Amino acid sequence: MVEPNSLDPQDRLLVEEARRIRERAYSPYSNFAVGAALRATDGSVHVGCNVENASFGLTLCAERSAVVSAVAQGCQQFEAIAIAAPGDDPWVWPCGACRQVLAEFGPNLTVFLVSESGKVARSTLLELLPHQFHFPGSEAGK
Ligand code: THU
Repeated sequence: MVEPNSLDPQDRLLVEEARRIRERAYSPYSNFAVGAALRATDGSVHVGCNVENASFGLTLCAERSAVVSAVAQGCQQFEAIAIAAPGDDPWVWPCGACRQVLAEFGPNLTVFLVSESGKVARSTLLELLPHQFHFPGSEAGK
């Protein structure tokens, strides 16, 4: 666990943005609202929330929603993501699909998990998804 006050200002902002955007989640089926804030290497912050669907399998997680939004804004290289989810125990870790999508644009992203009451844990994408698949010869895989 990380003491939120020990975070540097840009990481603290990322945590706050992830908590804020949770309120926009569309999660009437699970009632599990998740927010994500992604920081690009140019310092810009892009947010996303989960968007559920009556056909449950079409649900989009907050992390992938943030990636899609950032790419549409012209950003493709990321350095950190904060993920805010309900509850305080256990930590909510990104699902496998989101780990792979994040790896495409930030193979060693810093990952902050943010609990409902504002507790923060820190990890890295390499820790969460070792031996990542990258297309042979692609930039991301180098
Ligand atoms: N969800 C996310 O948005 N991100 C995660 O890291 C875990 C799960 C969403 C998907 C679904 O809308 C709800 O949480 C319950 O699984």
